[in-house]
Amino acid sequence: MALDKQQYKNQQEDMKKRMEGLSVIGQLAAGLAHEIRNPLTAVRGFIQLSAKESESLKQWENIIVAELDRVNQLVNDFLHLAQNRPVAKKEWLVQQVLEDVIILLQTKALLLGHEIQVETLDCKYPIYVDKQQFQQVFINIIQNALDALPKEGGTVKIYCRDDLDHIHICIEDNGQGIPKDKLKQIFEPFYTTKEEGTGLGLPICYRIVKENQGEIQVTSEIGVGTTFTISLPKQRVEEY
Ligand SMILES: Nc1ncnc2c1ncn2[C@@H]1O[C@H](COP(=O)(O)OP(=O)(O)OP(=O)(O)O)[C@@H](O)[C@H]1O
Ligand SMILES: [Mg+2]
Repeated sequence: MALDKQQYKNQQEDMKKRMEGLSVIGQLAAGLAHEIRNPLTAVRGFIQLSAKESESLKQWENIIVAELDRVNQLVNDFLHLAQNRPVAKKEWLVQQVLEDVIILLQTKALLLGHEIQVETLDCKYPIYVDKQQFQQVFINIIQNALDALPKEGGTVKIYCRDDLDHIHICIEDNGQGIPKDKLKQIFEPFYTTKEEGTGLGLPICYRIVKENQGEIQVTSEIGVGTTFTISLPKQRVEEY
């Protein structure tokens, strides 16, 4: 499933073009997103208040509030995508970034009848990243991998490799795979094949990885599975 160098270069250039286009739309949308959040908070408050007085409204309160929260989350995700906020970078070992994420998602995987297999993550070289943002990247990618698995008995493998100057963190699933002609589209905002999906997960991941001088690569085969590889510059141990 390896990509050759030229394919990889083309993939990265295509993604770059798409994200440059997005930043213009993103800037416009960020203003609008801010404006949506304030009235949303007010409506949420009034619904809760009114539900105290009205039995008929009370029965719909949870649904209305949950839907408003969903819109709020969507707006937050979109704002994150559009914002150029400064990142708080520090040196972290891969294991330190991933341990909480894995605990969080392992339980979820088990409940669904799947398995998250953690192979080696003990790379002695640290990466220089914004930990919180990076945890978000891994949650997004591992969650996508879980979503792609068959009904039961799927596996997501997480492992780490390093070469001369990069650390590669791989998330490999044996799920449904992504058709070749969709491999570029998955990084576009709002591209989703899920009923409840926003299609913002991967564009956010892409942006965060880029903010940390990294690259995301994806290889996939229908019916076999998908591997996402996040590559980050290696920090020297002496600096750690
Ligand atoms: N590991 C994977 N296996 C198969 N398809 C994938 C995988 N990861 C992503 N995809 C495809 O890429 C699409 C876009 O993913 P993205 O994370 O951006 O949005 P989403 O998962 O659909 O929505 P959300 O992240 O809001 O739940 C998915 O809908 C799915 O079709
Ligand atoms: Mg997703």
